[in-house]
Amino acid sequence: MINDVEKVLYSEEVLIKRIKELAQEISNDYSNKDLLIVGVLKGSVVFTSDLIKYITIPCAIDFMAVSSYGNSTETSGVVRILKDLDNDIEGKDVLIVEDIVDTGVTLSYLLEYLKARKANSIEIVALLNKEARRKSDIKVKYIGFEVPDEFIVGYGIDYAENYRNLPFIGSLKREIYEK
Ligand code: IMP
Ligand code: MG
Repeated sequence: MINDVEKVLYSEEVLIKRIKELAQEISNDYSNKDLLIVGVLKGSVVFTSDLIKYITIPCAIDFMAVSSYGNSTETSGVVRILKDLDNDIEGKDVLIVEDIVDTGVTLSYLLEYLKARKANSIEIVALLNKEARRKSDIKVKYIGFEVPDEFIVGYGIDYAENYRNLPFIGSLKREIYEK
């Protein structure tokens, strides 16, 4: 598994340091709000679980599962809701947790989908942002790191369901996803 990684971009230590900073910022911004953390399965599970450990204010958590990629490395443009929220979000301050924002197609669909449900606010925190490939104009309030236009794996992020359990974030060797 590790031999398929071209380069380690962010070590576990670097990731945790940045996640603590994000959690602090979120705790300050939401201190008088009714915070609901919404993790987007499956890519954001590792990030979500580390992030909530360092959030110091009360918060609830929920998950959604969406699919847009299949097993390819390009977004299909078609987003499907595979699992919806368990609870009502009316009046809540929803913070969507994403692993990586690429074209933005997935998140803009998700935002539209949730907008009708009368949340008090909806914002996004993304561990990684690939600005270069953005197609949808979406506002990401909190960003962990700006990443180059490479195929990223690890720390929850997969290629064809593999590599999610790597404890760091790295770029995948081209020969793996181009074969
Ligand atoms: P978007 O709709 O193009 O913004 O894609 C969003 C989703 O595609 C992310 O939540 C990831 O699950 C996946 N994705 C985007 N870029 C990568 C990558 O470099 N590696 C693995 N998954 C990615
Ligand atoms: Mg995702």
